Amino acid sequence: MIADFNSRNNGAEAGAGFDGDGASASAAVPNAIEVEHIVKKYGDFTAVNDVSFDVKEGEIFGLLGPNGAGKSTLIRMMTTLIPITAGTARVAGHDVQKEPDAVRRAIGVIPQALTSDLDLTVEENLNIYAKLYDVPAKTRKQAIDELLEVVDLTKWRNSQTKTLSGGMRRRLEIARGLVHSPRIFFLDEPTTGLDPVSRVAVWEMLTNIKKNRQLTILITTHYMDEADRLCDRIAIVDHGKLVALDSPVALKASVPGTNVIEVQFDNATADWEEKLRGLSDVTSVQHLGAGMYRVLTGNGSRTTTGLVEMSVEAGVSVKSLSVQNTTLDDVFVHYTGRQLRDELVKAYGFVMPPRPGVQP
Ligand SMILES: Nc1ncnc2c1ncn2[C@@H]1O[C@H](COP(=O)(O)OP(=O)(O)OP(=O)(O)O)[C@@H](O)[C@H]1O
Ligand SMILES: [Mg+2]
Repeated sequence: MIADFNSRNNGAEAGAGFDGDGASASAAVPNAIEVEHIVKKYGDFTAVNDVSFDVKEGEIFGLLGPNGAGKSTLIRMMTTLIPITAGTARVAGHDVQKEPDAVRRAIGVIPQALTSDLDLTVEENLNIYAKLYDVPAKTRKQAIDELLEVVDLTKWRNSQTKTLSGGMRRRLEIARGLVHSPRIFFLDEPTTGLDPVSRVAVWEMLTNIKKNRQLTILITTHYMDEADRLCDRIAIVDHGKLVALDSPVALKASVPGTNVIEVQFDNATADWEEKLRGLSDVTSVQHLGAGMYRVLTGNGSRTTTGLVEMSVEAGVSVKSLSVQNTTLDDVFVHYTGRQLRDELVKAYGFVMPPRPGVQP
């Protein structure tokens, strides 16, 4: 049974703040995944801390969070790969701890790291998985032919996997995860490291596959645009905890303000942030450094007018200014107090040491 997500995603069910007792209870659609008060501890460290949510059949559900939030740990528990410390998870109606084999038969899993065998051809990689999952010999060829079409790799079927681009390898892995026709598909950061065109290709593929194969899909991501474009509902995870859960539209509607103004000034005064806060309709102001401010407002045009007038009066020059609708970035800041971008820069950041003899 496939849910009508468009009608559920119209923002009517606002109130995104997570209330701690699982996902919204729109009754008719059965749950493909039910996670209740799940905890994972590594020694004294709690990687996943009392998380509960449901995923409806036919839904694309996103776990969104920065590095180390606990996304992969959650996926590993739901897919029977690591033991659960406390709480329960049911996948396709089976308890992951009591009936792991039944869970494994119902799911496809694409781990975060690329794991196809580089020395085998595309078709050989698919064949090995089909045999591993006991896909009968007489349907194997047809299943692989169909999947190669779905992921647009038919003409590469005899190519060695090491000759494929990153995007093509991801698509091969998506096909590989589907050879045994699972009902529920788990993908851990399916587009990390891909160029923008390949990312969009993967999103389109997943949307088509969901529709044509009646799949439930759970993905993890730290890309806001990916979560926004692809997911019916998003759970924001931070430091092992679920901090918000709803459709992208409802999450954005739950943040005070409807527009975000990003503005850079040349010679802002010390009290400038305070002054920005005092402008009409402003709900919050963040100083991003280097004269750059992010201003959330309930009325973008009125605040912009006030902002420009105030700058002219104070002799402060506006270097750049943009007004947009609220994004998931603002949602993340609202619920966690930090920007996901900053978290990622911190995690991936590498500062090149200066060339010997050169002053930085
Ligand atoms: N086997 C382990 N032993 C100890 N700590 C672990 C182990 N696996 C994960 N952790 C810790 O648990 C936390 C959550 O890790 P996890 O890999 O689930 O995060 P993530 O959200 O998937 O991050 P990323 O975006 O980097 O993949 C991190 O602090 C990580 O260091
Ligand atoms: Mg991970």
